[in-house]
Amino acid sequence: MSIFQTKAIANLVEGTQGKQGLKKALGALDLTLLGIGAIIGTGIFVLTGVAAANYSGPALVISFILSGLACGFAALCYAEFASMVPVAGSAYTYGYAALGEFWAWIIGWDLILEYGLAVSTVAIGWSGYAVNLLGNLGVHLPKALTLAPMDGGIVNLPAILIIALVAWLLYSGVQQTSRLNGIIVAIKVAVVLLFVVLAVAHVKPVNWHPFMPFGFKGVLSGAAVIFFAYIGFDAVSTAAEETRRPQKDVPRGILFSLLICTVLYIIVSAILTGVVKFSIFSRPEAASAPVAYALQQIGIHWGAALVSVGAICGITSVLVVMAYGQTRVLFAMSRDGLLPKIFSKVSEKRKTPATSTVLVGIVTAITAGFLPINIVAEMTNIGTLAAFVIVCVAVIVLRYKRPDLERPFKTPLAPVIPALGAITCGILIASLQPATLIRFVVWFAIGMVIYFGYSIRHSELQQEAKKTA
Ligand code: ALA
Repeated sequence: MSIFQTKAIANLVEGTQGKQGLKKALGALDLTLLGIGAIIGTGIFVLTGVAAANYSGPALVISFILSGLACGFAALCYAEFASMVPVAGSAYTYGYAALGEFWAWIIGWDLILEYGLAVSTVAIGWSGYAVNLLGNLGVHLPKALTLAPMDGGIVNLPAILIIALVAWLLYSGVQQTSRLNGIIVAIKVAVVLLFVVLAVAHVKPVNWHPFMPFGFKGVLSGAAVIFFAYIGFDAVSTAAEETRRPQKDVPRGILFSLLICTVLYIIVSAILTGVVKFSIFSRPEAASAPVAYALQQIGIHWGAALVSVGAICGITSVLVVMAYGQTRVLFAMSRDGLLPKIFSKVSEKRKTPATSTVLVGIVTAITAGFLPINIVAEMTNIGTLAAFVIVCVAVIVLRYKRPDLERPFKTPLAPVIPALGAITCGILIASLQPATLIRFVVWFAIGMVIYFGYSIRHSELQQEAKKTA
């Protein structure tokens, strides 16, 4: 039996045809909004401060452009797969079809890291804004209960509480409707634009000097950190089965949402580093809510409060998407036999993977409560970047192995763009902190032990192949 056995694309698509109940109602606009809903969150509202203070300085805007470029290449590759396999999949499903089980496992294992730690990162960001807003209202929570031990506290309690709330919502089967998402996206984009409008007149070009205080290496490290801000455009593919014309609209949703967010990010990062000196973001009170803090520094307190409220709403919706994504990746891998069946057990009463949701809630709450944001964000990024690299390579492999397949959306200039995607994402991986790379190697090794110790013997695909042999 080969560990490189692939799943037939025709079977994947057919498998969804019999599914009842999913209304095909979404169009390109809904999907774009879905993407923006998943993308704008802790990255732009919080990590901008971390990156500016420690790595990029005012060249934060260059970091955003570089990272956006890498995501753009990867998004074009995602779009090709999404149009070819228009099922509610993810990179994991694409990997199974193009490269076979072993690579699918690696992607899936990376995605578990991505979604799990994204939940924690986003929750820490949420906590920063919640604490900032309460502070504005005169309620000062003790540092010990709002920061992780490495940041000088004991536990980040608000981060744990918001995860508990979101896990409970998902456990009960509450779903974010596309209408609610539309409202949240409107709020999020409105506060981002509000920041731009309020702050632009306070930009002092002197703040942009020195432009690259930590050199170009710093700018790359900054790009690798704020890469987090772009994560989420792949969430669009999860709605493929509810889309009227998935072949066309899923690629559009992926690309449009990424494009819109990239433009917003570039404007915000240029203004943010223009209104205050970048070094200010190393202060703890600035680091946890930099966008609101910048407005406070220029005396616009009402604006800061509004931005905080908007950020809290917006970040919550990202949290829901990431936590949902985590349970669904675990679900798909468990259904394929690569992970224990407990992860695909659906509660009769609630029709949700209840046990898995509780487990995800507990693990992500612990990491959010006790680890600092830069460590969890970097781990999220390395997991995601590794998955992106494999997806980019998979596009090239499949073009070569299966030129016959219908590709309603084709990555332009292949194999150049997919190769650039793999290379740029690889550069971002190499720009992360050495400790992150070591942690990732450990994560990868654990994944290998589980695959060869458990998954390979329980895989449905391998069992089927055995039967037919
Ligand atoms: N891109 C998402 C965020 O910034 C994950 O929160």
